[in-house]
Amino acid sequence: MDLRHVGRRRLGAYGGPGPGHARSRQPRLAFLALDVGCGEGRFCRLLAQAGVRTAGIDPTRTLVETARQRHPEGLYQLASAESLPFPDSSHDLVVSYLTLIDIENMGAAIAEMARVLAPGGTLLVANLASHNSAGRWLKDKSGKPLGYLIDRYLDERPLRQAWAGIDIVNWHRPLSTYMQAFLANGLRLTFFDEPKPASGEDPTGGKFVRVPWFIVTEWQKD
Ligand SMILES: C[S@@+](CC[C@H](N)C(=O)[O-])C[C@H]1O[C@@H](n2cnc3c(N)ncnc32)[C@H](O)[C@@H]1O
Repeated sequence: MDLRHVGRRRLGAYGGPGPGHARSRQPRLAFLALDVGCGEGRFCRLLAQAGVRTAGIDPTRTLVETARQRHPEGLYQLASAESLPFPDSSHDLVVSYLTLIDIENMGAAIAEMARVLAPGGTLLVANLASHNSAGRWLKDKSGKPLGYLIDRYLDERPLRQAWAGIDIVNWHRPLSTYMQAFLANGLRLTFFDEPKPASGEDPTGGKFVRVPWFIVTEWQKD
C-alpha cells in the first residue's frame, strides 16, 4: 500500500514532519499517527522511516512485545481498538490495516478511531472485501478452482479458522455495515480502491484478481 499521499496537505500546512519544523514560522503542531491493530509493527516502522511519529496499539501481547523488540524507539501499547487510550482529537492519521475483520465490536472501534482523529485528520483503512469473507472457492476433483460461491451475504457472522496452529475468529459483515459505521461517525470518504497485486504478478495464480480481495478506503474528519 502506498502511504505517501496520506495527510500530505496537512503535513504541507505545518511544514512537514522533519527537521524543517524548527524553521517553520507557523505554530507547529506535531503530526502524530496511530496504527490500530499494529501487529508486529510493520506500518509503524514504515511511517517512522518516513519521519512520521507513530504509535501502535494491539491487544495481542506477543505481537506488541515483538513490535517493541523490532523497533525499540517506537511507541507500542497493549490496548484494544474499542477503547483507545488516547485523548479526543489527538492524532492526524489513524491506520487500520486488516484489523476490522478481527474486531467483534467494529462499531465501537470505528467510533474510537473517529474520536482520536483531529479535525482535518485522515483515517486509512484496508480490509478484506465483504464479498470475499462471504464466500469460498468451488474446486473440481483435482483441486482446480472453478469459481467463487458467495452465500448469506447479508448475514453478519463469525468465521472460525485455524492459522499457524492458532484459532482465529474473523467477522463477515456486508460492505454496507462498514460504510454506514464510518458515515455515522461523521467521516467523509475521500478515496476508494480495490488494489491489484502491486508487482503485476498474482502469487496465488489468479485468485487475487478473480474475486474481490482487499478494499482500501480513506476517510476525512472535517
Ligand atoms: C491480520 S493482523 C494485521 C496486523 C497488522 N495491521 C499488519 O498488517 O501487520 C490483525 C491484527 O488485529 C489485531 N486485533 C484483534 N482484535 C483487535 C482489537 N479488538 N483491537 C485492535 N486490534 C485487534 C490482532 O492482534 C492482529 O495484530
